[in-house]
Amino acid sequence: MDQNAQKQRAALAALDEVQDGMTVGLGTGSTATFFIQLLKQAMMERHWQLTTVASSTRSADMARSLGITVKDIDEVDNIDVTIDGADECDWSLNGIKGGGAALLYEKVLAVRSNRNIWIIDDSKLSEQLGQFRLPVEVIPFGAEQVFNRFQDMGLAPSFRMTNIWDRLVTDAGHHIIDLDVSNVNNPYRLADDIKGMTGVVEHGFFLDICDRVIIGTDPIQTMVR
Ligand code: 5RP
Repeated sequence: MDQNAQKQRAALAALDEVQDGMTVGLGTGSTATFFIQLLKQAMMERHWQLTTVASSTRSADMARSLGITVKDIDEVDNIDVTIDGADECDWSLNGIKGGGAALLYEKVLAVRSNRNIWIIDDSKLSEQLGQFRLPVEVIPFGAEQVFNRFQDMGLAPSFRMTNIWDRLVTDAGHHIIDLDVSNVNNPYRLADDIKGMTGVVEHGFFLDICDRVIIGTDPIQTMVR
């Protein structure tokens, strides 16, 4: 089954996590987009009243264009469940996110959520994290110096670009540096080291955050923490 079909199946299965009256966190990316579309359909068919918050301008705009009300994160007391995609996921339900450059807001939602559900296709599964380059969100001021530190650490950094001249700018006004972490055996230690660097806002390691992974294979597979 192709990846898009798997993403769609996983998104559909994630509707089981949602109940009327909930506050739902909306992820970012192609799989989360499938979920937002299916959520709208379920809201209409099942007469659900939901509150939603979004992890990016893109997802907020998309949800609003469908007529879904999206609140600001600070307007809600807590989030019952966040449904999001992932770029990579291991068997311990740890992962790498940020391929869509939304890792900061995604993590803000995730840490405020009672439950975090990832919806993925099976190409995202890996034995050891590092198949996907680790996105790190940095402030523009002094970004070259952070980049050089990553180079010294042997992490083969590259700035995420929108074209050959322009660095990508995130929703929060930051840049993204992508790192090669394929040789890293202890993501927890590296995550702490990176988080401790001045100029770094957040990294794309999502460790001990996800509660359930839904893989859109036929039949659907799930992994639970
Ligand atoms: C965005 C993300 C996405 O969840 C991740 O990139 C997966 O995207 P897709 O569902 O398109 O494969 O972390 O920052």
